[in-house]
Amino acid sequence: MASQLEWRMSDSWDDYADDWDANENARTYADCAFASLIMHLGIQGPEWQQRRILDFGCGTGLLTEKLGPLVEQVIAVDTSQKMIDRLVEKQLANVVPVCVNFDDDHDRELASGLTGFDLIVASSVCSFLPDYEATLVLLAKSLNAGGHFVQWDWLQATGEGDGLSVNRVVDAIGKAGLNCVHAGEAFTLATGQGEAPVLIGVAANVDKN
Ligand SMILES: C[S@@+](CC[C@H](N)C(=O)[O-])C[C@H]1O[C@@H](n2cnc3c(N)ncnc32)[C@H](O)[C@@H]1O
Repeated sequence: MASQLEWRMSDSWDDYADDWDANENARTYADCAFASLIMHLGIQGPEWQQRRILDFGCGTGLLTEKLGPLVEQVIAVDTSQKMIDRLVEKQLANVVPVCVNFDDDHDRELASGLTGFDLIVASSVCSFLPDYEATLVLLAKSLNAGGHFVQWDWLQATGEGDGLSVNRVVDAIGKAGLNCVHAGEAFTLATGQGEAPVLIGVAANVDKN
């Protein structure tokens, strides 16, 4: 996976769908995200086999395919129809691919039905959203009590440029009414511009009972 600047040569994620799985960095990013998810939430326990996950911005399902075998169901959503098409072709058990835009009024009814999740993951998605903070408020409403939200994004080191800063992630999690469990660097990836750090944000929905 190239850094944000390198891979966003096109405005449409559809243009990346066919080659996404052949991108070694995209696969490594998903591998590292999954490993850090296991480290923070240990989702391999038997209790997870009755739980539901929303994979927000699932792309072709590089992370989704690792989650499906561990839980009852993964709803995998993305705004790119072509990314969803590639995921549908994989015919993953326990995975329901849905092309939907949580931020679009036209999709509001469909999106509002996507609720009751024990875990929402967003791997390399939030820094591309037009309004990350507002979308996180919407996603938080889809979490069950005691559920978690986990995101990974390029770490914005200087407060400017691509990616998200740890402070912005912590603030957004708080504004969404979630409890920040952890935020910081998770791993680094080799890119054309050198080693690029990736942050993880882990939040818990502790307020609802
Ligand atoms: C860098 S790719 C990551 C894909 C996948 N999570 C992975 O790690 O391979 C970003 C994905 O976010 C999706 N995306 C962008 N904006 C979105 C939005 N508002 N809602 C859902 N998905 C979105 C894109 O279509 C694209 O598939």
